[in-house]
Parts: sequence; C-alpha cells; structure tokens
Amino acid sequence: MPTSTDEARRPAPAPAGQVVLSMQNITKTYPGVRALENVDFEVRQGEVHALVGENGAGKSTLMKIMAGAVQRDSGEILLDGQPLAHISPHEALSLGIGIIYQEFNLVPYLSAAENIFLGREPRGVIPGFVDFKTMYAEAQRLLDDLDAHFDARRLVSTLSVAQQQMVEIAKATSQNVKVIAMDEPSATLTDHELASLFRLMRRLKESGVGIIYISHRLEEIFEICDRVTVLRDGKFVGTNDIEATNREEIIRMMVGRELGEAIPKVAAEVREPALEIRNLTRKGELEGINLTVRYGEVVGLAGLVGAGRTELARVIFGADPYDSGEILLEGKPVRITSPQAAINRGIGLVTEDRKQLGLVLGMTVRENTTLANLDELSRMGFIMSQKEREIAQKYIKDLSIRTPSQEQEVKNLSGGNQQKVVLAKWLFTDSKLLIFDEPTRGIDIGAKSEIYQLMNALVANGRAILMISSELPEIMGMSDRIYVMHEGRITGEVARADATQEGIMHLATGGE
Ligand SMILES: Nc1ncnc2c1ncn2[C@@H]1O[C@H](COP(=O)(O)OP(=O)(O)OP(=O)(O)O)[C@@H](O)[C@H]1O
Ligand SMILES: [Mg+2]
Repeated sequence: MPTSTDEARRPAPAPAGQVVLSMQNITKTYPGVRALENVDFEVRQGEVHALVGENGAGKSTLMKIMAGAVQRDSGEILLDGQPLAHISPHEALSLGIGIIYQEFNLVPYLSAAENIFLGREPRGVIPGFVDFKTMYAEAQRLLDDLDAHFDARRLVSTLSVAQQQMVEIAKATSQNVKVIAMDEPSATLTDHELASLFRLMRRLKESGVGIIYISHRLEEIFEICDRVTVLRDGKFVGTNDIEATNREEIIRMMVGRELGEAIPKVAAEVREPALEIRNLTRKGELEGINLTVRYGEVVGLAGLVGAGRTELARVIFGADPYDSGEILLEGKPVRITSPQAAINRGIGLVTEDRKQLGLVLGMTVRENTTLANLDELSRMGFIMSQKEREIAQKYIKDLSIRTPSQEQEVKNLSGGNQQKVVLAKWLFTDSKLLIFDEPTRGIDIGAKSEIYQLMNALVANGRAILMISSELPEIMGMSDRIYVMHEGRITGEVARADATQEGIMHLATGGE
C-alpha cells in the first residue's frame, strides 16, 4: 500500500517495456505556489500511464515540463537513458515527446488541416509553396481515422469544443512520437468520441509508444491504463499497477481521506415556471423545442455532442438569434437579443467554453468573479473595493479555488480551478435562472460534490437550473426531470424516478 514512506516512493515494477522517459526530483515554483516538489515519474514503452490528482495537484505542470513548454527549477529528465537539458517544445517534439494540451493550442483562423500540419506543411513541386491538396487529404485521413467526420478545411473557430479536441489529438499523434502526454482529452468528448480515442491509444500502445493519460474520471483509468501515478499538492504520492489497486485506494491517495456519496441530491420545493420555451426553431440547429424549467428545479438536458444542447443554451442566453417560436420568462414572452440583455433579465450561463464566454484570462480571480455583477458593487459606492475583495474571498473558500491570492491572473490557475472561477462568477450574480453547460468538466472528484451541494443550495433558495451534461450519472443524480435531445430536437422527457441509463441513451440516439 502506497504511503509517503521511502520504499513506496519508488515506482512499482511494471510488467513489460523499457523505461523510455523518466523524470526525477522535479521541482517547480511559481510566485506563491510550489507547483511541484521532488516529483518522480516514469513512462515505459507501450504502456498507458495514468497521472491523477486533484485540481492544482501539478499534473499539467509536470507534463508541460516534460514537453519543454515550462522549464523546471531543478530535477532531471532522461529520455532513453540520456539526460535532457532544458529544451523548447519544438526540440522536445523532434526528440519524440508529444503533448495534447488541456487548454488547446490551436490557431482559430486557420483550418483544421493547417493546424494539424502547422510548421511542417507538405511542400509541392514549386519551391516555397505548400502542397494544399496533399495536406488536406492527409489531414482528412487523420480525422476520419479518429471517427471525426468533419471537413479538414473548416476553420478551427467554426468547430465545436469536441471537434477542436479531435484536431489537437490528430495533430499530436500524426507525428512520430515515443512518448505522448494527453492532458484531460476526455473532458470535452462524449462516449462515442472517447471510444475512437481509446482505439487510437491502443494502436499507439501496440507500436510501443508510451502514453501519459490525465483524467478525473476513474472509470477511464481502469479501462485503458496499465499504471497510475498520484500527485497531491505538488508531491509524488505513489505509482501502482492498475491490477493491484482499486478506486477507493486511488481516491484516498489523491485526497488523503475517504469520500462519501458523490451526488447528494436534495429535492427542493418546486414553484412556478421560470422559463418556458415553445416551438423554438433555429434553422439547421434547433427544431420545435418545447421545455419548461420551474423555480426550485434542476432540469437536465442530456444528449450526444452535436445534439444541439449548447446551441439551445446560447439562444436562451441571447448569444445566437432564433427564427421562430417563443421564450417566456415567468410566464411573459420576451425577446432576448444579447447576453447582456439575458443577464439583465436574471439569466446566467456557466459555460463549457472557458475561453470564449466564460472568463477574461488576463484578469484576476477577483475581477472575474465580480465581472458579471458590477452594478451591484457600484451601487455600494465607496466601499466597493473592500466588498469586492470579501466576495472574491468567500467564493475562493466556498469552492476551494486553489490560488495563491485573489489577485492571481486566471490564466495562471489550473484548468479545474479556472472552471470554479466561472462558477463563482455566476453564483455572485442574482441570476434566477442558471444554465450550466457541463459544469463539472475537468473538476476533480472531491470538488465535484461541493458543486453539487451548491446546486442543491441554489434550488433550495428558489432558483431554477437548466443543466447540460454528458455525464449520465451526473444528469441522473442531480436532475428532477430530464429532457433528451437528438439532432436539434427533443426526443423525450423523463422523470427522475423513471430515468435509466439505457432509456436516456435510447432517446439520445434518436429512439422514441
Ligand atoms: N503559469 C503559472 N503561474 C502561476 N501559477 C501557476 C502557473 N501554472 C500553474 N500554476 C499553479 O501551479 C499549480 C499546479 O497547477 P497544474 O495546472 O499543474 O494543476 P493540475 O494538476 O493540472 O490541475 P487541473 O486538474 O485543475 O488541471 C496550481 O496551483 C496552479 O495555480
Ligand atoms: Mg491540468
């Protein structure tokens, strides 16, 4: 059993495969944060090695150091037994170290194909000119191979989050790598896409590539990984064979304690409708949508990626227009034409897309938290800044946001902690209707239940919640009622008591 004693600090012996990359005694400090402290980690040929830990534990930092994107303060990295000096991402890649970043690194105004081949475009017969034909064909083959059937010529800015993830994956795996880090690829994928990714991982594994797989979903770890390394607070806790460990042990290593029931749903008193949608249509996206969310309710919106759930959220929030139908708030028809108008009417959108709608990355935790409700603070006149600090501090505590201070720029937080700031921002508004789009994406197992408890508190307070989620246990665990969407339509409504995984999947794939 792994503890922090000395003999447990050495990675457990793995069955087959040479060590291809090993990191020893890695330390990295940021102002106010010890991100990594004497961490040991190794990857063998042909293994999938899970790297797990709570939000802010240091997983992404360790992988960025491996891939040359962040420089270590001290420690050693050996590739095929040879020490690596401080290298750039470009050098790392040329040595066979690849990475799929948690926060994508794509150029939005270039096509998927151009992004995949950025910096190594195939050249044609005329010197200096890119052979676009070959590039598009090759990119299309890579995407099709991943079961991502969209046109490789499309601009990245027009792709969904899941499609962008597929571009990242195609980009990283199209190069000849010995080791590849996948930093939470599954957070933005649904089951179908995840299956394609796992197929690809098995192929890479067979050809001897060592894969590092980061995920907060332990089921995935048990399905695809051979070994698991746990980090806590920037420290190495242990490395285990998957065969020799179990879910409870991994959680204990991650959080240092036992966790209770993850989804503690508390039903609230259900009152009048907050939101009613009648026959709403947006050509090509949404078709005849009818739904109701009452105060006191959590209403789940299930479906596969591309079913139109995010699209519906954007229309309600005034980010996109609609062609026909009606939206009623508290029984009165309204026409919401911008996100600002939606906010003024008491609607909040906790989005899956942190970069576009969710956060201003260059601003601080404090500024982001209070951004959507500055009115409230300006009304308080001269005490504003004091009040603002108190509010920011309260949410940092309530959501256990891991940050050295509220003056930290959001871009320096770990992925999961950024997601918590998005939540804080909307919790601080007086939104009576909150739309949660994949609210716990990238959030660790311990913080998840804190967010569920917050949702319970919100509805107990009389607010209404519409929750989009691709995680069925979350939808089934937290919703009072569930609507299921497929190809822009609502294919069914299921009461909490009647919800089964099979039933929802049946509706989500178009069954009646
Ligand atoms: N550029 C930076 N400047 C300052 N602090 C940073 C920076 N990058 C990371 N940190 C801090 O280092 C710690 C580790 O962050 P890291 O991103 O490695 O966590 P993680 O394990 O990947 O978490 P998550 O599951 O949320 O993605 C966090 O406290 C984070 O705020
Ligand atoms: Mg991370």
